[in-house]
Parts: sequence; structure tokens; C-alpha cells
Amino acid sequence: VSLKNFNTFGIDASARYFVEINHENDLVELFMDPQWLTTERLVIGGGSNLLLTKIFEGLVIRINIRGIEHRINHTDVFIEAGAGEVWNDLVNYAVKWEFAGMENLSLIPGSVGASPIQNIGAYGVELKDVFESCRAFEIATGQFKFFDKEACNFGYRDSIFKQHKGQYIIVGVKFRLSLVANINTRYGAIEQELNNRGIGQPTIKDVSQVVSYIRVSKLPDPSTIGNAGSFFKNPVIPAAEFEPIKAAFPEVVNFPAGDGLVKLAAGWLIEQCGWKGKVLGNTGTWKNQALVLVNHGGATGLEVYNLSSQIIDSVYSKFGVMLEREVNIV
Ligand code: EPU
Repeated sequence: VSLKNFNTFGIDASARYFVEINHENDLVELFMDPQWLTTERLVIGGGSNLLLTKIFEGLVIRINIRGIEHRINHTDVFIEAGAGEVWNDLVNYAVKWEFAGMENLSLIPGSVGASPIQNIGAYGVELKDVFESCRAFEIATGQFKFFDKEACNFGYRDSIFKQHKGQYIIVGVKFRLSLVANINTRYGAIEQELNNRGIGQPTIKDVSQVVSYIRVSKLPDPSTIGNAGSFFKNPVIPAAEFEPIKAAFPEVVNFPAGDGLVKLAAGWLIEQCGWKGKVLGNTGTWKNQALVLVNHGGATGLEVYNLSSQIIDSVYSKFGVMLEREVNIV
């Protein structure tokens, strides 16, 4: 089975077996199969955080569980969504109903079920800010388990599902939104674009539109140029390691990350090494965002992976900072 249409990088790799899960019970049935526990598995939703570097000899499980429902309790809004829903469809649903909390997360590619795994985040908001709980299938036992927010152990681009990779398959997520808007425009680019539009009192819809506009202007559209968003995490380093970098590069882009830690903009580090907009064969970095690696057409996963290794090496030799890949490498 070709996976080309199932990964936003548009890498033409194939898998030996492929199954689509439309309902939780399909997983229970799979579990009954004697080969279940011995076959290598790869779970995919939107395939937007995935780099395929080889033929996958195991079973690809594509999650397509659908459904969005909401329930209002005073000013709280609880939305339950199937893991296979497209993330941005859910955001649009909330924005249309004027349920507040997700608007800054507009236009992030991927599925609802993938959203807790790396605690997706953008423009000053993280998934954990709207997450209530989720339900997941435990691969080893065939049981469904409930995870509240605390159990998810969320961190920056991190959660229990990433820490215990391959143990659970998220089937549904519950979110807590609000009828009371709590507009967050602290992220500079949002404020600036609202000003440009002459909007002083932004609504949920305004914020969603502005965030979508910023994303479209900065990030390549996976339907035309294959990519998986930020390829690396923004490195978080101790202040003591930051001091010499700051001394050598006073303009280094950085943000306080609490506990004596500093977060660096990986995009800036990569740009400083001369990679921004560079094309190497069929791959390269995006002209408006060096943190995004792209497939200009026909790239293999290995080509992209090799480029990422070169970037890691050059950032390390210039800044002494080790970039960590954020995308799942298979
Ligand atoms: N920058 C550069 N050159 C570049 C790119 C960035 O100098 O080529 C500097 C700029 O100074 C900019 C700063 O880096 O002010 C931050 O850049 P940006 O606002 O684009 O955000 P980011 O830190 O590169 C993170 C997330 C994105 C998310 C944006 C917006 C990670 C790994 N990435 O990127 O998430 O959309 O913030 O909040 O945390 C993703 O995870 O796939 C993703 C796209």
C-alpha cells in the first residue's frame, strides 16, 4: 500500500499492511487477531508529523473515528471529538459556535487524536489549555483507558503518549472550552496583524482568521509543498549554557522558559547557519521559516532525514546547541 496520500510530507513510501479504523470496536477486533502483538504497528491520523524513511514492513493503522458533539454547562462547553476528525474542522466548529479557547490553534494540520500526543501549540496557546480528558486503547491489553489532564503529563511538545510511544491509540478527546472569550493576542504577530486590520476588540473569529492568515503567509501548504511543520523542537537550555551564546551572539532570539531555563528559536539558529530557503536536491528548508523542512517534489524520506542531520551538525558546531527532531521518524 502506498502511503503517499497519508503523510503531509508527500513521501512515496509503502507499507505491507494497512487497516482503517472507523470505530473503537475495530480495534478490539484487531486485538483478537493472533498476529496483533507480534506485528510491528504504525498508527497514523493526519500524517502531519511523520517522516517515512523506508518501506514499513508492519501494519499501518489509520484512525478514522469521526464525530463531534458538545454539551454546555453554565459557561463551560465540553466538546467530544473522535480521534479521526481533522483538527482544523474541530477548531472551525468551535469558532462557528463562538466557543472560546481553540482559536489560536487554527489551521494546525493533523487529526484530533494526534493533538494530545505532542501537545500541539501555536501563537501562545497549547492543547493542554483546552484539554479535559481522552480515551485510549492500550495495545498490550486490548483495554480502553481514560486519561485526565494530569495523567497526560503534558510538557512542551510532549505528553505521556510520546513518553510511552507505541503503547496507546487515542480514540477520542474531550475538550473544555468556554462561552466567555478570553482573547489571547500576546503573540506579537497577532497583535500586529489585528492593528493592520484596524481591529481593536477582536472576537474569537477575528483571532482565528488572523492566525490562519499568519500561518498561510509563513508556512508552506502541505497540499502543494510537502512538509510536516516545524521539523525540530525549539531547544530549551539552562541559563548557564545560554550566557556564552548570548555573549557571542547578542541578537539571539530567546524566551524565558521558567526554572532558570531559556528557550531558543530553532528557526533563528538554523537561519544563522545559512540554511533558510536552501534547496538541496528535492528537499530544503522553507523560504519564510527555516524550521520547516520541505519536499519540493519526489524527495525520499532519507533525503529529508539527511538534510536534518546536516542542519543538526551545523547548528551544533556554531552554537553548541543540539537540536532535537520533533517529527516522528519511521
Ligand atoms: N525565526 C528566524 N528565522 C526563521 C524562523 C524563525 O529568525 O526562519 C525567529 C524569529 O525571530 C521569530 C522566532 O524565530 O520571531 C519564532 O518564530 P515563529 O514565530 O515562526 O515560531 P517558531 O518558534 O519557529 C513555534 C512552533 C510552531 C508554531 C509557532 C507559532 C515549535 C517547534 N514550533 O515555531 O509550531 O506554529 O511557534 O506559535 O514549537 C509545529 O509544531 O509544527 C509548528 C508549526
